[in-house]
Amino acid sequence: MNAEASQRLAAAGQEHLVRHAESLPEDERAAFLSAAAAQPWEELSSALDAVGSPVPELRPPQTYSLGRQLNQHEERKRIRNLGQGLLAGGRVATLLLAGGQGTRLGYAGPKGNVEFGPDEGRTLYRIHAERIVAASEKYGRPVPLYVLVSAATEEATRAAFDENSEAWGLQPGQVRFLVQGTLPALDDDGRALLAAPGQLALAPDGHGGAFETVASAGVLSELRDRGVDVLTTYQVDNPLGRSLDPLMLGWMVERRLQAIGKAVRKATPDEKVGVFARDLKGRTRIVEYSELPPPPEPTPGDAVESPLMMGSIAIHGFSVRWLHDLAQAGQHLPLHAARKKVPHLDESGNRVEPSEPNATKLERFIFDLFPMAERAEVHEVKREWEFAPVKNPEGVDSLVSSRVLVDAEVRRWHESRRLELPAEVRLAPREIDGPGDA
Ligand code: UTP
Repeated sequence: MNAEASQRLAAAGQEHLVRHAESLPEDERAAFLSAAAAQPWEELSSALDAVGSPVPELRPPQTYSLGRQLNQHEERKRIRNLGQGLLAGGRVATLLLAGGQGTRLGYAGPKGNVEFGPDEGRTLYRIHAERIVAASEKYGRPVPLYVLVSAATEEATRAAFDENSEAWGLQPGQVRFLVQGTLPALDDDGRALLAAPGQLALAPDGHGGAFETVASAGVLSELRDRGVDVLTTYQVDNPLGRSLDPLMLGWMVERRLQAIGKAVRKATPDEKVGVFARDLKGRTRIVEYSELPPPPEPTPGDAVESPLMMGSIAIHGFSVRWLHDLAQAGQHLPLHAARKKVPHLDESGNRVEPSEPNATKLERFIFDLFPMAERAEVHEVKREWEFAPVKNPEGVDSLVSSRVLVDAEVRRWHESRRLELPAEVRLAPREIDGPGDA
């Protein structure tokens, strides 16, 4: 067994792990070798080989602005009714992506546990839970909420829901946790780093791990058994994310879509969001900002803008039947490489805390499902209604900028209904505690 694992590691260029195993106590050796040998080395090395490959030629996608384009009131109502029918029939489930390490924000714990405010105890998880509860009450059916967690977030996330689900109004059994996989971080020579003696430096396999997990953990069959037709996905760090939007769901029904994604016009050509595009085969795809060529330099007095300006806000709807077919056909999402700072042990076993990116992490992206779809569309929404990301400790896309956007949305909502604002929302942005300037 040990010999077989060692051979596999040597063939994958990971001999240093075999040498490391020899330095471990005998009772730990076999477990380390077999865990290391079980990593998908061929796939990892092909992903590394593909780094820097040019992005295929892309064009702007066809985009529907349902709120605007369906400007006849009756037509919009008809589409919304279709979506509401799905919700009332219990045919929609939603998957909250909450497995990320949140390294940029630097909060000690899952981002979902970040206290968002304005009142005490209003964490991002609570905000998302309350939205699900509101939709469940409105449509008379508890919407199943799946929460994607990783080794980095599972324990604290389960604890938060165990402690609060009832107070947040969730029904027993309404929430299920899905644990995504991990992949080893690699050095510049493609060799796996060690986090500690007998332990590889592992990181969550990206939000695309959601597909790998639902495909392998029987979730798609479970969804079908629960009579669910559409699975929507959204991100824990966007408190305005509307994943149960009847217009989006109704449009999926109307157009018999396999996939739909929400878009906003990018604030600037270099805004850090993925962009929607159409490839030469006519397929819709999303390209991560880090993989796009730099936008053209603006020339003075010239209003030329990057042609790919439809930014993804990472709210998607997928047909459950279609996901099931993909899983049955053995489809996997590709790996993408990103340079990151990864603490590790050096050759002599000393711990290194890098100050600059020193390693490659490999991740799958959930939106790589799009080019697999024959019928996928882009649904443009109002940015100020739906997008308030929390990514950084200060400045752009920070807790403070997100709170300002959420506060404005809450005010608009109350004003449009001529309702009085609750006292805790009457905070001016500058009165909100938080890092950085409002
Ligand atoms: P990001 O790509 O912004 O990553 O995730 P992050 O972990 O939140 O933050 P950084 O990049 O380390 O600073 C976007 C969404 O995808 C989820 C995150 O939880 C977030 O909701 N995600 C990301 C996962 O569920 N799993 C992953 O492996 C990565």
